Formats: sequence, C-alpha cells, structure tokens
Amino acid sequence: MSKTVIVTGASRGIGRAIAIALSEREDIANFVLLSRTAEGLEETSNMMNPNKNIEYYPLDLTDYHEVKQLIQDVGIRYNTIDMLINVAGYANPKSILETSIDDWEKTYKINVHSLFNITKESVKFMKKTGGKILNVASTAGSSARPGWLAYASSKAALINISQTLSEELSEYGILVYCISPGRCATELRKVLAPDEDPSTIMQPEHVGEVVNQLLSDNGICLDGQNIVVRKQVSNKKELQIKQTT
Ligand SMILES: NC(=O)c1ccc[n+]([C@@H]2O[C@H](COP(=O)([O-])OP(=O)(O)OC[C@H]3O[C@@H](n4cnc5c(N)ncnc54)[C@H](OP(=O)(O)O)[C@@H]3O)[C@@H](O)[C@H]2O)c1
Repeated sequence: MSKTVIVTGASRGIGRAIAIALSEREDIANFVLLSRTAEGLEETSNMMNPNKNIEYYPLDLTDYHEVKQLIQDVGIRYNTIDMLINVAGYANPKSILETSIDDWEKTYKINVHSLFNITKESVKFMKKTGGKILNVASTAGSSARPGWLAYASSKAALINISQTLSEELSEYGILVYCISPGRCATELRKVLAPDEDPSTIMQPEHVGEVVNQLLSDNGICLDGQNIVVRKQVSNKKELQIKQTT
C-alpha cells in the first residue's frame, strides 16, 4: 500500500515524534507535515525514514482558506488522504479573570476551529476510500483544571468532536481516534508547568509509539474513545522503545 498521511504540529514535540514513528511503517509512502516553522519541519523530515516521500508546508492552521487549498491540492495529487493526525495545539494557562477574549479566541482558533477546518477538507477525500483520523486532546479535557480554563475546555471539545465524528463518519469507513496525553516533555508542557523536570515525565517518543500502534491494523475497537496515554508516577521501569533520535 502507499498511504498518504497528514500530520499537523509536526515541527517539534509530540507531532514530530508521531511523524518519525509512522515513517518506519511500510504501508505509508507519503507524508505531509504542517506547522508554522519551516526550520522545525525540515528538522523533522531529516529525522524521518529517508525512503519516504516527505513534503512540508509552513503555514498557520488558522489561515483556513490557505489550509483548505493545500488539502485540496494534496488530495487531488495523491488521489486520497488516508490518515489525518491533528496534533497542533496552543496553551496560555490563565484564570478566568486573567484571560482576555483575544486569548480565549486564539486558543479556540488553534485547538478547535482549525482542527474542524482541516478535518472537514480531508474528509471530502477520505470518504471515497475510508481512512483514519487521530486527534490529540489532553487529560486536561476531562477533568477540572483551575487556571487552565481556555486550554482545558478546548481539549474537552476535541474529545466530543472525536466521539461524534467517530459515529458520523463510520458510514464512510473512516475511523476516528482520540488520545489524551498526560504530562509530556515538550515546549507546550514548559508553558503549563515551568518548574517541572522534563526528564521525570513522559517523552514525546512514548506518545509516538502509542499512536503508531493505534493506527496499525491492530488498533481495532479503540476508535471513538478517549484513550489516556500517561506515564504512571509509580512506574519505575521505563518503556523500552526504539530510540528514534
Ligand atoms: N506536552 C503535554 O504535556 C501535552 C499533554 C496533553 C496534550 N498535549 C497536546 O499535544 C499537542 C502537541 O503539543 P506538544 O506538547 O508537542 O507541544 P509543542 O512542542 O509546543 O508543539 C506544538 C505544535 O503545534 C504547532 N502549532 C501551534 N500553533 C500552530 C498554528 N497556529 N498553526 C500551525 N501549527 C501550530 C507548533 O508548530 P509551530 O510553532 O511551528 O507552528 C508545534 O509543532 C497539543 O495539541 C497539546 O495540547 C500535550
């Protein structure tokens, strides 16, 4: 097979780790990496399996029209889109009284509206052949997070969007997955918990490997659910995963 996959938020962190992990799969031939930063996207592509066809496009996912045009170009060029991995996200943790309407809107534009936009455009192609969509929500989306109102509530929206689309798109053979990572050592996590030692928490490669398994043919009966991906504090034994960097 020669599947085509789109990964958003691929310039660093969890999106980069997912792109690297998926590039080792035989069934995927074409990768389309998206985020705003060309350097980060180029670095990611250099870390992936060199035998794959990798394209990257620096763009802001909230430029809805530009994204729509790009997805149309990709869908026509490859005849379909087999997988869409929605990873890009933004967090500016503040209490309700500290949150400006501008920042509230920015959080929802990146985390929710842009995901709606790229998913809708991708489904127009994916519905012809079936496919898989994976959304990265957060454990913050399913429990109270005082001080993180905009971010946590936007992630709650992703959990419901995933569950609703899982049923709505099943008639086209499209499976929709939702993962909710816990604390993971990335730049976004540094914004949420600046004093935390990143070496003590889950690494992006762990999430990349979970996503790789979910999107394999073994990932049956796991779509349509909010799958928590978390390193247990008491788990002293590190997961033995293939080093990708
Ligand atoms: N780290 C955690 O503890 C944790 C836990 C739960 C969920 N998550 C979720 O995991 C996802 C990935 O985050 P991360 O932790 O890997 O953080 P990260 O390293 O900061 O990555 C965020 C990614 O989103 C992209 N992005 C942000 N705004 C964008 C925009 N307007 N247009 C295009 N791309 C944009 C960034 O790329 P550019 O800056 O190049 O545009 C970057 O690639 C997020 O959805 C986050 O909410 C993270």
